[in-house]
Amino acid sequence: MKQDLIAILDLGSEQNAALARQIRAEGVYSEVYPGTITLDELAGKPGLKGVILNPGTNAVNSPSGVGYQTEGLAVPVITALPQDYLGEVYPEDALRAFLFDACHCEKNWNMENFIEDQIALMREQIGNDRVILALSGGVDSSVVAALLIKAIGKQLTCVHVNHGLLRKGEPEEVCRVFREELDADLIYVDAADRFLDLLAGVEDPEQKRMIIGKEFIEVFNEEAAKLQGIKFLAQGTIYPDIVESGMQSGKSVKAHHNVGGLPKDMKFELVEPLKYLFKDEVRACGKALGLPDSMVYRQPFPGPGLGVRCIGAITRDRLEAVRESDAILREEFANAGLQGKVWQYFTLIPDFRSVGVRDNDRCFEWPVIIRAVNTVDAMTATIEPLDWALLGRITDRILNEVKGVNRVLYDITPKPTGTIEWE
Ligand code: XMP
Repeated sequence: MKQDLIAILDLGSEQNAALARQIRAEGVYSEVYPGTITLDELAGKPGLKGVILNPGTNAVNSPSGVGYQTEGLAVPVITALPQDYLGEVYPEDALRAFLFDACHCEKNWNMENFIEDQIALMREQIGNDRVILALSGGVDSSVVAALLIKAIGKQLTCVHVNHGLLRKGEPEEVCRVFREELDADLIYVDAADRFLDLLAGVEDPEQKRMIIGKEFIEVFNEEAAKLQGIKFLAQGTIYPDIVESGMQSGKSVKAHHNVGGLPKDMKFELVEPLKYLFKDEVRACGKALGLPDSMVYRQPFPGPGLGVRCIGAITRDRLEAVRESDAILREEFANAGLQGKVWQYFTLIPDFRSVGVRDNDRCFEWPVIIRAVNTVDAMTATIEPLDWALLGRITDRILNEVKGVNRVLYDITPKPTGTIEWE
């Protein structure tokens, strides 16, 4: 392995991920392991240079009860005691002394080393077998695909399912980048009609999510069944998905089905090369692998796609109007230099019409609603104070170019009380 490793043992802290990030910011690779890991497993981790026991507030409640015996381990061990969370999570000086004086770590955590290590690990895991991947075009699945192509080339088959709810130009971009630029073995499935037929008349957002998620797995399974000798399923699982799981309150407002998230009970073994990366690291990895900025810095897009932005029962005319107005919004944001500066921006269309006037005639058409928000973790969000001239330009274009729309509205509701999406 190219990288030194500092292991964090989760003994009840809620700040494991934050500590791992703090160590990585020092140039040293760090991973979090459950407190149930055996001493032998821990000692066998490649590149292990030191261990941090992380009991969090458990240590305050019961200082002697950290409870993990590390006797016999050949590397230095410390117990992390959080300061306050005003600033740093753990005292910087003490952390640096541990990393560089006690453990003699080198600052060798970087994307080039990560990519090299992952390629070696994946080649060892996969051997001469074949791998399948659901490539949505999102950042995570795109980076996994690019990594695997580098490691095993055509032993990887990517399946891009177009559920008809993608943004304008997305399926074309996925096919172009992966087929033409990366020479991937990519199966493109246009399943739009299947999804839209199933969704016809369905008004409830959670039911829409369920139908889309279930049908996605159905389509993917059908494609997988046509292929011979697939042993592995690659997934774009990333660190935040696993590291703090089970530690949150778990109270869910929306189901947040990730359409690319396939069930673990499929008969394949999993390949998850990004499962130790944070989101910004995934982007850096994509950049280092040569993916275009449009993919690497893509704004978040919900798995059920435009399906939750065409409010109520989805109709094809409103879906097209959402797709077209969203494309105009993105183009105008890019022209105004706002791409990558505003966290998420999109349009949606509610399921009611209003009276207007067009060419001296009464018209009864849909409104388009613009939403543009900033957030750190999507749990709360503020509104981007958009310039009136920009809003005016976007409004003019939507009213002139999008069929069936006679009004444009701007949603200025923060989260809470409004969620980012309307459904
Ligand atoms: P809300 O609407 O809950 O959204 O404030 C927070 C973030 O999550 C995205 N989102 C989803 N992502 N599947 C996803 O993969 C979903 O069903 C889903 N619903 C919302 C939303 O776009 C925002 O970034």
